[in-house]
Amino acid sequence: MTETGDAAARPSAVRLTLRQPQGETSLLFGAGLAGAPELAAALAGRTVFALSTQDLRALHGERIAGLLAPAGRLVELEAPDGEAAKSLEVALPLWRQMLASGGKRDSLLVAIGGGSLTDLGGFLAGTFLRGIDLVQVPTTLLAMVDAAIGGKTAVDLPEGKNTVGVFYHPALVVADTDFLATLPAGELRSGLVEAIKMAAMLGPELLARIEEDLPALLAGSSKALLQVVAGAAAAKCWVVERDPTEEGPRKVLNFGHTLGHAIEGVLGYSGLRHGEAVAYGMLFAMRLQEGRPEADPGFFARLHRLLSRLELPPLPLGPGDAPALLAFMARDKKAGEAGLTWVMPTRLGEHQLRQGLPPGEVAAVLKRFLADPWAAARV
Ligand code: GLY
Repeated sequence: MTETGDAAARPSAVRLTLRQPQGETSLLFGAGLAGAPELAAALAGRTVFALSTQDLRALHGERIAGLLAPAGRLVELEAPDGEAAKSLEVALPLWRQMLASGGKRDSLLVAIGGGSLTDLGGFLAGTFLRGIDLVQVPTTLLAMVDAAIGGKTAVDLPEGKNTVGVFYHPALVVADTDFLATLPAGELRSGLVEAIKMAAMLGPELLARIEEDLPALLAGSSKALLQVVAGAAAAKCWVVERDPTEEGPRKVLNFGHTLGHAIEGVLGYSGLRHGEAVAYGMLFAMRLQEGRPEADPGFFARLHRLLSRLELPPLPLGPGDAPALLAFMARDKKAGEAGLTWVMPTRLGEHQLRQGLPPGEVAAVLKRFLADPWAAARV
């Protein structure tokens, strides 16, 4: 169920600014953002490459046209849905189409879509003619709270996810929550996991809000969603400003992603959405931490409870999949010379980074975890 109402009754837009090494990113969050002055300023008088997918144009053609109305000249680019967008085979013809249709250094790319699409769009913009301006228009909850913010862009190789990419920041992020009205429940759940990750690690007030508003969030209430989107985005901006290239503090955003990416890879990027795989990764990180003196069992139980309220699809892997998951993690692009850095929660708003975990310990805990991922946290 989605709230309806006229423009005057809608929650008003939220504006944030992220200072990053290439300059500033303006972020705009709200419902019905066509006509926003920021869009007019970015698009007017320019060749605008509008990258999106067929499905999204079929669902939201009018909304997209409204957002892009100020463009001087519009060139439509198309990519496949989902993770399939993130490949060099998809990028190559798009770079060539951009050249053939008169792309110049002062052209602009607008990426309209979910996290995979905004990753591809950022990669295309960051590499075409050594970098053209970029506007991200995330259309899923996950892209609004995480993927479209902070300049990580990439495509995948068969060897691993996000293996070829650049840090390249958008000049503008426009998150129009009206796009969320058609989002399947599973997509909302997947995005909420990233918001919960941000809240657990960085924003105690946001965590309490998600706990309280969860039924409304899962039902697609635009008011509740806007508050969470803006809160999670603010937390993400806070950490990206302190560590734009993930030398230290930004690693916290990888909470749940070490096993999460491995689950996605072993499943061939189907069967579980990104956020759903990350939720299992968060449960596993807590399992690895359990019993350590710095781990707060009350916080672990709270996070476990909140994730369980999402009613995620079951993890379609078992103890026999542990070797494949461990092999995938060994190739993780987040690994350094000293091996993987695990983001371990300790208590609400706090974490530690642990390196060099004994592989035998990880393997043993993983096998037990895969036998019962939801085994209650010890309290
Ligand atoms: N999605 C994690 C990050 O942007 O660092």
